[in-house]
Amino acid sequence: MTTTNTSLIERSSWKALEEHGRQIQGKHLRSLFADDPQRGTRMTAEGVGIFLDYSKNRATDDTVRLLVRLSEESGLRARIDAMFGGEKINVTEKRAVLHTALRAPRGASIVVDGENVVPKVHAVLDKMAGFCTSVRSGVWKGHTGGRIRNVVNIGIGGSDLGPVMAYEALRHYSERNMTFRFVSNVDGTDFAEAVRDLNPAETLFIVSSKTFTTLETMTNAHTAREWLLRGLGGDAASVAKHFVAVSTNASEVSKFGIDTANMFEFWDWVGGRYSMESAIGLSTMLAVGSDHFMAMLKGFHEMDEHFRTAPFDRNLPVLMGLFALWYANFFGAQTVAVLPYDQYLKRFPAYLQQLTMESNGKHVTLDGKQTAYDTGAIYWGEPGTNGQHSFYQLIHQGTRLIPCDFIAFQRSLNTLGRHHEILMANVFAQSEALAFGKTADQVKQEGTPEWLVPHRVFEGNRPSNTILVDRLTPETLGKLVALYEHSVFTQGAIWGIDSFDQWGVELGKVLAQRIIPELENSGEPKLGHDSSTNNLIRRYRVRSRG
Ligand code: F6P
Repeated sequence: MTTTNTSLIERSSWKALEEHGRQIQGKHLRSLFADDPQRGTRMTAEGVGIFLDYSKNRATDDTVRLLVRLSEESGLRARIDAMFGGEKINVTEKRAVLHTALRAPRGASIVVDGENVVPKVHAVLDKMAGFCTSVRSGVWKGHTGGRIRNVVNIGIGGSDLGPVMAYEALRHYSERNMTFRFVSNVDGTDFAEAVRDLNPAETLFIVSSKTFTTLETMTNAHTAREWLLRGLGGDAASVAKHFVAVSTNASEVSKFGIDTANMFEFWDWVGGRYSMESAIGLSTMLAVGSDHFMAMLKGFHEMDEHFRTAPFDRNLPVLMGLFALWYANFFGAQTVAVLPYDQYLKRFPAYLQQLTMESNGKHVTLDGKQTAYDTGAIYWGEPGTNGQHSFYQLIHQGTRLIPCDFIAFQRSLNTLGRHHEILMANVFAQSEALAFGKTADQVKQEGTPEWLVPHRVFEGNRPSNTILVDRLTPETLGKLVALYEHSVFTQGAIWGIDSFDQWGVELGKVLAQRIIPELENSGEPKLGHDSSTNNLIRRYRVRSRG
């Protein structure tokens, strides 16, 4: 029987937060603002060019003090030092967690198992830069002598979501004469649609997989090789000019038939969902060039340093993490909405879903005991203003509490008439409406008939953070991603869970491997599943062969 770990909820700061939470639950943001005219300017924090307004949270200065105390009592400082110091804090996989080393400046020293890993990080970055320059300039030729105009990244999870998100986010800085596509789903439609208008002679595949054994990626990679060979007359030598690999697993890369000279390495101390700035970012570097890529790493590093050194009550990722925990554990919130007001960040919420939920969707603590409290929330979102005409209704007037993160930029990358002012007015209007709402009296004063009044009331008291950044650049993208990475870390450290493993994805993988031959079997396989699964398999077998 699993025992429960209650140490977190027994801390004095936790108990104080429970008591404090009951008081705050009875307060409305209207009165918190009315009673404290400085609140909107005081409850803010700024670091490395990112401004965070957390005043529209259901919290006071005391809340922040208590949450900071909780983080201290939970050993957050020591956990941060352990991560940055290369300790094996991913205990279930016995690995260090050193995505921060991927963005450490040349010349820094971070030691893992007695070896300074920074030189090898920069050696790979240099190799990537050389390769990208040669492809972008046309020096790297395809098998038939033409230049590469299309890049297709094949990967899934962390080997896809970061590259897609970064490509979309940095499209403004990308080489517009090249086409970038991303194939992740094992559904053949994904591959078919990605390549249908591409010329194999001009196409480079990047097979991105930390393990190089992932079923979806390897299936797509084999299909890509067949497609290439079919298009180039079947000459196996063409693979060398049209396939490169990004992996930690050189032997599997060789087995696939990719020369390890065309492999870009990373290491087991880089988690898949923390890998977009490793060689997994090869497609990003091909799109934006190595200078922009290095600027993104600089942004990551600046946020790392802020997280490592800033006092917790002014530390952006710590504050973000603490508020997420506040709502998850003391308000029963199930979700967090991430609402970027920038079209280039359209894949940012999808990227954050893996980062947050694969990291903190855990029900046991580091010592294998059941948590006595909720852990990671469900993250979701869409770029504003589209969400406003869709799901915001529920955030404003539904019955659930949904804390929101608004992300916006002072300056647009596409200045078109009044667009940016209208966009920004919507950011500020939404957080204002969520916080303050509209009372029945206000609705009545507008002449609304009595029967309609309840429908038009906005209760308000819906919390949000607003993150304002100057401009979306490679550097600010790095800062934003690191902000959320370290917010996830803060939450996981307090909950005492392993934010860096992902055992929850294993069972489905194993069962799929068992079912594949049952679907492909030309005879009548003996099925040993439950009655529902057996029936679904039989029905599929009968109807797919008609
Ligand atoms: O789905 C689990 C997972 O291991 C993720 O953590 C990872 O990002 C993804 O699969 C892809 O793994 P790989 O890069 O090894 O193909």
